[in-house]
Amino acid sequence: MCSEIVENYVAAMVLGAAGDALGFNNGEWEFCSQGSEIHAELSKLGGIEHLDVAERIVSDDTVMHIATAEALVEAGKNIQPSNLYPLLAKKYKESMDDMDGRAPGGTCMDNSLRLEPAIPNGWMIPFHKSAGGCGAAMRAMCIGLRFPRPEQLNDLIRISVESGRMTHHHPTGYLGSVAAALFTSYAINHKPPHEWGKELLDLLPLVKNYVIDAARDVSQNLDAWSYFEEQWTSYLKERGILNGTSQPIFPEKYDVEERDQFYTSVSYSGWGGSSGHDAPMIAYDAILGSGDNWAELSHRAFFHGGDSDSTAAIAGAWFGSMYGFKGVPKANYERLEYRERLEKLGKDLYQLA
Ligand code: AR6
Ligand code: MG
Repeated sequence: MCSEIVENYVAAMVLGAAGDALGFNNGEWEFCSQGSEIHAELSKLGGIEHLDVAERIVSDDTVMHIATAEALVEAGKNIQPSNLYPLLAKKYKESMDDMDGRAPGGTCMDNSLRLEPAIPNGWMIPFHKSAGGCGAAMRAMCIGLRFPRPEQLNDLIRISVESGRMTHHHPTGYLGSVAAALFTSYAINHKPPHEWGKELLDLLPLVKNYVIDAARDVSQNLDAWSYFEEQWTSYLKERGILNGTSQPIFPEKYDVEERDQFYTSVSYSGWGGSSGHDAPMIAYDAILGSGDNWAELSHRAFFHGGDSDSTAAIAGAWFGSMYGFKGVPKANYERLEYRERLEKLGKDLYQLA
């Protein structure tokens, strides 16, 4: 076993959850619409290095990420739909028993409770036009840890789409799941981040073919398909990385307020990061702008006026996949809720991959 890679698997699971707990701040910061207020409070508390995660519970994002990871681990090498999908559905449904104080999303809640893992096809739900939230994306990073190799790409696509649309049967929702999983697979392979966005766009036709072949509510899926792709194309253009080779360009002044404005501008309805397209987009923007600097990552991805815990959960997992625990203050993860469970899942996913 390569100890460096195992450590990155563990860090991906643990730091995703740490980011979630810090960005959530027991609900106070997820739902604060002014990044400047959060940053003022953060300064008073002594900055990121003094935030003790022991005082903050993880939110729904982590509980559902654990659910995905546990299903993948329990399925083991048998990833056939008939084995894995009912397991995922069961874990999502059960995850709703652990939501006190964790502010689960409406779509996640309603649709997890509709799943019937014990009956054939009970893991399928119909297309829904308002299922474009980030609830599918925030729990998909571990799929990239499980399927990190190029020859596993079809499994990564299939499983990120199907696990995503167990609650979010809308392309904006489940393509967020594909992006979160895919970028985790890139991160664990140390692919340079400025290449990731173009590769996602290049992959979308393959995902579309999968959805057509799967033959469920195809015309509704295709009618709603373009939004995700258009939003991502326009974002990559703005950063100058649509070609996948150039380095990203950021505005000269891109502090808390400018970032809040930008995050709002890419959002569906004014709450940056709360949808399937912009949660991974904001996490990606933060990864591109921070390199291996955890404090900078936290400022950009965990503490802003949008859906902070979800962008934090995704960015934290990518950071851990690339850099392990390097430069991360112990206070931010040492006494994290569910830390042992997350560590074990990281090790088990490494073994399976
Ligand atoms: N396209 C894009 N965005 C949409 C669409 C659409 N078609 N329909 C709705 N939205 P919600 P979730 C936006 O509340 O996905 C926890 O708090 C909608 O405007 O159903 O189940 C986590 O920490 C809304 O802003 O949530 C996450 O914050 C957003 O989708 C959240 O719940 C979220 O939809 C994720 O759970
Ligand atoms: Mg949350």
